Amino acid sequence: MSVGRVLSVASECVPLIKTGGLADVVGALPGALAPLGWEMRVLLPAYPGLLARLGEGAAEVWSDGDLFGGPARVMAGEVAGIAVLMLDAPHLYDRPGGPYSAGGLDHPDNAERFAALGWAAARIALEGLADGWRPDVVHAHDWQAGLAPAYLRYAGGGGWAGAPRSVMTIHNIAFQGWAEAAKLGALRLPYEQFHSDGLEYYGGLSTLKAGLVTADAITTVSPTYAEELMRPAFGMGLQGVIAARAGQMHGILNGIDDQVWDPANDPAIAPFSAGDPAGKIPNRLRLMEEFALHVPGPLAIVVSRLTDQKGIDLIPDALEDFIGAGGGLAVLGSGDPALEGAMRALETRYPGRVGVRIGYDEGLSHLMFAGADAVLVPSRFEPCGLTQMYGLRYGALPVVAATGGLADTVVNASPAALWQGAATGVVFHPADALGLQQALRRLTVLHADPEGWKAMVRRAMEQPLGWGASSAAYAALYAQLKG
Ligand code: ADP
Ligand code: GLC
Repeated sequence: MSVGRVLSVASECVPLIKTGGLADVVGALPGALAPLGWEMRVLLPAYPGLLARLGEGAAEVWSDGDLFGGPARVMAGEVAGIAVLMLDAPHLYDRPGGPYSAGGLDHPDNAERFAALGWAAARIALEGLADGWRPDVVHAHDWQAGLAPAYLRYAGGGGWAGAPRSVMTIHNIAFQGWAEAAKLGALRLPYEQFHSDGLEYYGGLSTLKAGLVTADAITTVSPTYAEELMRPAFGMGLQGVIAARAGQMHGILNGIDDQVWDPANDPAIAPFSAGDPAGKIPNRLRLMEEFALHVPGPLAIVVSRLTDQKGIDLIPDALEDFIGAGGGLAVLGSGDPALEGAMRALETRYPGRVGVRIGYDEGLSHLMFAGADAVLVPSRFEPCGLTQMYGLRYGALPVVAATGGLADTVVNASPAALWQGAATGVVFHPADALGLQQALRRLTVLHADPEGWKAMVRRAMEQPLGWGASSAAYAALYAQLKG
């Protein structure tokens, strides 16, 4: 039974296009909400090659003769069980490179490219699609979809009964969709809204701010990040905007896809489960072979974008002690060239103890979680984070900084938590090299007690990490908005 319809608007969606956790979440929400009666369609740009993925049954459901400089249409179809709406606008999306950049440089017309996505979303919400579908709620993700709530509101959508309501979700406030004020008209935004309580942001525009001031509700991806965002160090310029709307802010923790991440049933690994953790051993051996490692003690991994956010630069100074105590590290990631270089240097410095793979490899990442004892996530900020949850599910205990979703998902192995049988990992603060070094020392001590370690691994693997509670929270929010 359908209780309502949601148009999810995003720039990434697994399994079609992914640069980070945003794609995992956008791809998981429709399946998580369907059992609760919410019918979700995902509107996504048709990047090169994506239209073909819709297959034969795809149908045109919307069109526009001039969507920011060229003709556009929306094709509806299904991919991996997800009802997908692809915005086909070749002048904006059919070009080499990634979704946001090519050859290390942002596409120069990103403001128009993602304004187009928001514009199409708002039109669809107001007018419906050719197949009769019209959403009750528009759910916009990050700066790329930030103008969807704005267009909806400025078109009068916020003003009349029965008009679709909007939700703006912040996955990462570090990316704000900045554009110069001179673009206001070209982006079809009203001049009278160019003031500090409206669209104006440090003399220019931010599509994320636009979404935050116009959406009916705001969510972010963990309760702790929702609180952190009101502080300058985390709000990154938008803390005042968030604080002003604290009453509409909801922190809803992400889940993980527990079918894709199920150690008992994962084609990339030798199977194991909470009741049979010994099954991790063959995975550990394969992992060491893959990275040419010989590690007598705890084997840690990093699977991450290599960026400042993730605290990757803290690792070199924190590692010596850990390696000396018998530990080892396997790294899979790509990003900042300086950090890639720093990771490679570790491999040279600790041969047989540190292995590094620069790149993106989904299958290898599964083997790494399956074979590792610990996953390191020393992030300076982390809105939610997914890899610590994969670590819990696969018995690779998370060693995490006390921030955002990391703090909300990992229970630190303090004496009290150990005594109560609640600990699932190591949480450290502050996020600096000494903090990480001490956390690794605690990890080594915990690992040296086989019985205690076994109990922690089992507890970690038994944590509920699926979408259950979170999809119920989204459903409740949609229902409240729909009225
Ligand atoms: P963020 O979105 O900030 O990068 P998340 O932890 O939310 O952080 O999500 C990252 C996602 O990308 C996870 O699914 C993680 O497994 C995946 N990932 C990151 N780097 C790699 C890589 N090099 N190879 C395979 N998967 C990766
Ligand atoms: C962002 C955040 C990450 C979060 C993901 C999905 O990429 O950096 O912490 O897990 O979005 O919400």
